[in-house]
Amino acid sequence: MDQNAINNLREALAHSPDNIPLRLHLAQSLAQLFQYQEAEQEFKAVLRLSPQHKDAKFGLAKAYFHQEKYGVTIVVIEELLHLDPDAENYKLLLCRAYLRNDNKAEAQQAFQELVRANPTLRDEELDQAFRNFHFDASADADDGIDEDALRSSRPGINFKHVGGMDRVKDEISLKIIKPLEHKELYAAYGKKIGGGILMYGPPGCGKTHLARATAGEINAEFISVGISDILDMWIGSSEKNLHQLFEQARAKAPCVLFFDEVDALGASRSDMRQSAGRQLINQFLSELDGVDANNDGLLVIGATNAPWHMDPAFRRPGRFDRILFVEPPDQKGREAILQIMLAGKPLGKVDLSSVAKKTEGFSGADLQAVIDRCIEDKLKASFSTGIPDPIATKDLLKAAKVHKATTREWFNTARNYALYANESGLYDDILSYLKVKK
Ligand SMILES: Nc1ncnc2c1ncn2[C@@H]1O[C@H](COP(=O)(O)OP(=O)(O)O)[C@@H](O)[C@H]1O
Ligand SMILES: [Mg+2]
Repeated sequence: MDQNAINNLREALAHSPDNIPLRLHLAQSLAQLFQYQEAEQEFKAVLRLSPQHKDAKFGLAKAYFHQEKYGVTIVVIEELLHLDPDAENYKLLLCRAYLRNDNKAEAQQAFQELVRANPTLRDEELDQAFRNFHFDASADADDGIDEDALRSSRPGINFKHVGGMDRVKDEISLKIIKPLEHKELYAAYGKKIGGGILMYGPPGCGKTHLARATAGEINAEFISVGISDILDMWIGSSEKNLHQLFEQARAKAPCVLFFDEVDALGASRSDMRQSAGRQLINQFLSELDGVDANNDGLLVIGATNAPWHMDPAFRRPGRFDRILFVEPPDQKGREAILQIMLAGKPLGKVDLSSVAKKTEGFSGADLQAVIDRCIEDKLKASFSTGIPDPIATKDLLKAAKVHKATTREWFNTARNYALYANESGLYDDILSYLKVKK
């Protein structure tokens, strides 16, 4: 299948626009060529002709998924599951979409159902996500999800699983790991331990991944608080929940308490200042300050794509007093990331440095997408022989060519804040990354 074949299909369709199998074939071919946006249009066209067409719906869901439109992916899959409640491939995609969309509880539940129905099910992404709470498929089938167990885990990854990011790793090591290992030394010099690290930068560049790896590095418990948890607290304006969360983390020390998209909590927008949400912010700050509690062994890491929305009160000493820019990986970093992501896959002779060279501006998530595409292709090619055909440099380059780096858009916004709202040089790192003279 190539662009030529696509053109022929389009021509055929010009003559019989209502030919469903033909249009479906076009849609699927476009998806095969990673042209998901066009594929989406064609799947929709099929569905206009035949609204309950399962293959077209599933194709549409996959096209959405690959464009990272996880919300609509979920909607379409749920419709499909009404038509066919037991289809494993539907549920698998649903579970992935939940996971990518940060609906962790739903993802977990969907995964449990999948494994219960098919105990031999293996899916790398999901296995990895849920590795830390494996369960016996036969036992406690009716038990609800244990919220605590869901949140808290001991990550099976450490700094070795994080490519590049050397500067950020060093800072974390100095601020978080060393104090834990050398408490007495810090005490001897009267240096206070505590405070948190805030990572910011474009999406997909490893903030969450590194936070997890930090916990793994020191064999600490990891508690991740996502946007939906935070929003729940907003809605309930529930300082109590937040307090309980910190207490849970203190009880498990050493523990990394990770707030993803923490800007949702500390929004500086004045409307929130007035609202009940202000109480939540104050609660968070006093938990960080450890006023009524001992924060020993509690390591707080925050991540945000939008640091400019955060209340400046968060940046005071003892709070998020180290603010680190997590930039897209440089060439060496990309090579290291590719190496990590390809470990254990059937590889031929692969020149990773040339792939790294051709992927300027790609985030870790972009590189993952390239590899996913490449592997999907390889899988298809291997079906006829039944033998895995090793991945070669050209396969990766081909997949990289059709993928657009997702970090650029973020820099368009960031540049403005860095140029016009750069109080006390907070965003100097962005300017130097963009090579803008101050
Ligand atoms: N430096 C890296 N090394 C290895 N994997 C990475 C790296 N950066 C990103 N990834 C991978 O890319 C994906 C997205 O990264 P993530 O940490 O969620 O980004 P962020 O939190 O910055 O949006 C993750 O699946 C992660 O495994
Ligand atoms: Mg993240």
